[in-house]
Amino acid sequence: MKNKYVFISILAFATGIIVLNACRHEILDPVNGGGGTGGGNPLPASTCSPDSVYFVNQVMPLISSNCTMSGCHDNITHADGVNLTTYAKIMQYVIPGNAANSKLYKVVIKTNGDRMPPPPMPVFTTAQKALLQKWINQGAKNNSCVGSCDTTVFTYSGAVKPIMDAKCTGCHNPGNLGGNIDVSTYTAVRVVALNGKLYGSVAHQAGYSPMPKNSAKLSDCEIRQIQKWVTAGSLNN
Ligand code: HEC
Repeated sequence: MKNKYVFISILAFATGIIVLNACRHEILDPVNGGGGTGGGNPLPASTCSPDSVYFVNQVMPLISSNCTMSGCHDNITHADGVNLTTYAKIMQYVIPGNAANSKLYKVVIKTNGDRMPPPPMPVFTTAQKALLQKWINQGAKNNSCVGSCDTTVFTYSGAVKPIMDAKCTGCHNPGNLGGNIDVSTYTAVRVVALNGKLYGSVAHQAGYSPMPKNSAKLSDCEIRQIQKWVTAGSLNN
């Protein structure tokens, strides 16, 4: 009798664990959600390896939102003669396999006034520096992968913030307020979520400036994640 009770308890406990795990959806690596081809559904399974850094998915968005804005290293201004709008142009400042001697990496780890992006732009985070370093040391290839993006994940921390950090905050932070818009914190993104500009701009709706500026449109899945987060009340979740 007692044994039977213990057995049932164990069974109930184990079932609980299985159910809890089944409900958990997490974005496991920064590549996921970044595999935007702009169209095509349903999305195939991820081809992104967590051990690799991808130029198209991760490096170009970082450079686009931190270096190629108007007045900096774009096609028109190319400040100091530097234009970072394409892979070929970026490679002029990269020695494949050797981040330590690549100008592109050396300027972002500088700690004096010559650092890039220049003040008042924020310095690259440790994670952003590490990403660039790893990509160069892995051979600085013009590589890409198809990230698995899950529309059932639409929390701020699990979906919206990673997209903003990868593709938007470089142009929209307190040190560089493109269009007078800040998306670098929850409180700031919430403002544009509530006034309709966030979804309108990423979905390329009429009447809004299409975002991300000068880069590929977000994937359908990423746009859907943002839309679902906004519709669910733009929570800090
Ligand atoms: C290269 C710089 C750059 C990047 C990257 C960028 N933006 Fe913008 N954004 C701007 C500028 C500049 C404006 C002002 C309008 C214009 O010039 O088109 C703007 C305007 C906006 C607006 C206001 C749109 C409107 O119609 O009023 C929103 C919202 C916005 N951006 C969100 C985003 C989001 C979200 C991302 C990432 C998916 C992003 N931006 C990426 C530079 C950028």
